[in-house]
Amino acid sequence: MRVLGIETSCDETAVSVLEIAKHKAQSVKLIVRKNLVSSQIDIHQKYGGVVPEVAARTHVAEIVALLDEAIGSNPPLSPLRKGGIFDAIAVTSGPGLATALRVGIEAGRVLAMLSGKPIVGVNHLEGHIASAWLNEENRKHWEYPMLALVVSGGHTELVLMKRMCAYKIVGQTRDDAAGEAFDKTAKLMGLPYPGGPQIAKLALEGDPAGFDLPRPMFNDPSFDFSFSGLKTAVRLAWEPWERGPVERREKAKRDLAASVQQAIVDVLVKKTIEAAKKYKVKGVLLVGGVSANEALRTLLASRFSQHMPGVAFLPSDKMYITDNAAMIAAAGWWRLSKGEQHDWKKMEAKPEWGL
Ligand code: KG4
Ligand code: ZN
Repeated sequence: MRVLGIETSCDETAVSVLEIAKHKAQSVKLIVRKNLVSSQIDIHQKYGGVVPEVAARTHVAEIVALLDEAIGSNPPLSPLRKGGIFDAIAVTSGPGLATALRVGIEAGRVLAMLSGKPIVGVNHLEGHIASAWLNEENRKHWEYPMLALVVSGGHTELVLMKRMCAYKIVGQTRDDAAGEAFDKTAKLMGLPYPGGPQIAKLALEGDPAGFDLPRPMFNDPSFDFSFSGLKTAVRLAWEPWERGPVERREKAKRDLAASVQQAIVDVLVKKTIEAAKKYKVKGVLLVGGVSANEALRTLLASRFSQHMPGVAFLPSDKMYITDNAAMIAAAGWWRLSKGEQHDWKKMEAKPEWGL
């Protein structure tokens, strides 16, 4: 079975074709036939963040070419009817930017109408969770209950998975997401969007104990997070250095980047370990854009092997961390294999859709 995945929830236009070769849930063979991503980062960088209207217009400009490359358009209808290219469509329905989501959904609806193939609307966060399942090694250790730390630009959630597609949010941010904390503190330090990779790069040569930053909710018994206080702390810490001599300022910038990263990572790791213990999970997934952060990956991996050696630590592969459509096709297949499908005539964007 081949699932065509479409993703346009934020600032990446993405189309993929995922082939599922065997149908037993735990021993499937996956082949990612196409994984096309057109990133808009360069476009939004000059605004210092994603501009929804610009994102939607850029998706419109990009999506047809990506679909053409993935499934072909000449002649436009006959290959779809013969069914050799894809057997079902999975499209991100939410959460995300409403106008951006609509571009992918409309493309999916048109293809469903023309091809007569089933279509399923996918939750973007479930897509991030499924990104870990794209890794063959991870699938070998895929055993419920599992915990997923979903850390992206818009979300920070600890999700308990009792079985496939059954989610309970056991912890979440009360204000900014972890990715937002990276992006906003980076902006305060004059770094370009997106700030996460910039902070991570500077942090490599900085001292994580250089600045004493707060670890919000660190000792709170809940599994919730709060990152908005970090912005004020970073603003105050950075102010004295902003107009200082270049050399000392650059050193302070590296130390502050390392300290911000450590503050965010410390809280994420502590809460994840505690939640994994409480819910006696068999595996922990690390997914979403912020999971690209090496400090986070390394610390989580070492803490799990130290304190919970029986728990499998399952981060998603680097190539499926940031928004892509292979993860949407994978989550779409989970849903389709449970018999779910949607009526293309009634599909619409769900910008606030929770897991
Ligand atoms: O999942 P994603 O690609 O998009 C959303 O669904 O939001 O996540 C994007 C977020 C941005 O906030 C970006 O700064 C952050 O992921 N990010 C990182 C790193 N790479 C991307 N944060 C920390 N360290 C990184 N290496
Ligand atoms: Zn995402």
